[in-house]
Amino acid sequence: MTKYTKSASETERVGADLAERLDKAGITHAFIAMRGEMGVGKTAFTRGFASYFGISGVKSPTYTIVNEHRGRVNIYHFDMYRICDGDDLYSIGYDDYVDADGYCIAEWSENIEGEIPEGAIFVTISRVEGHPDERRIDIDENSCI
Ligand SMILES: Nc1ncnc2c1ncn2[C@@H]1O[C@H](COP(=O)(O)OP(=O)(O)O)[C@@H](O)[C@H]1O
Ligand SMILES: [Mg+2]
Repeated sequence: MTKYTKSASETERVGADLAERLDKAGITHAFIAMRGEMGVGKTAFTRGFASYFGISGVKSPTYTIVNEHRGRVNIYHFDMYRICDGDDLYSIGYDDYVDADGYCIAEWSENIEGEIPEGAIFVTISRVEGHPDERRIDIDENSCI
């Protein structure tokens, strides 16, 4: 599925729509692997996703690597920007998050290619040339939704 957005709030809406589709499909455990350069809207997308579940306060977890949001569902929001190898992931307890009930959303999943669990949903956001506020969002739905 490909969507085009013209503002951060529209990108949030696309995130919220994905959350709704997962929720309505009864999928309570998923890994969302986000790709896209700095400032493209990965955190905006995540904010929208979380907002569907009534979770607010989503910020880029750049220094903490992972922010845990607990609500009707749990959301584990990762920023893999600073992750260099498997040891870094091990030190944050990555495997336990992946197995935990709820959703993992990882910004900069490009940096953990080999560690993305099978069945992950890939969300790639890119800029649209000549349109500073426009984004293309590709959601890879090989997975079950
Ligand atoms: N269509 C759009 N979708 C998402 N963000 C947009 C869009 N147009 C402009 N922006 C701006 O781009 C920035 C995206 O920031 P953020 O979500 O933190 O990106 P990332 O997490 O990918 O680094 C924000 O300043 C936002 O206002
Ligand atoms: Mg971010």
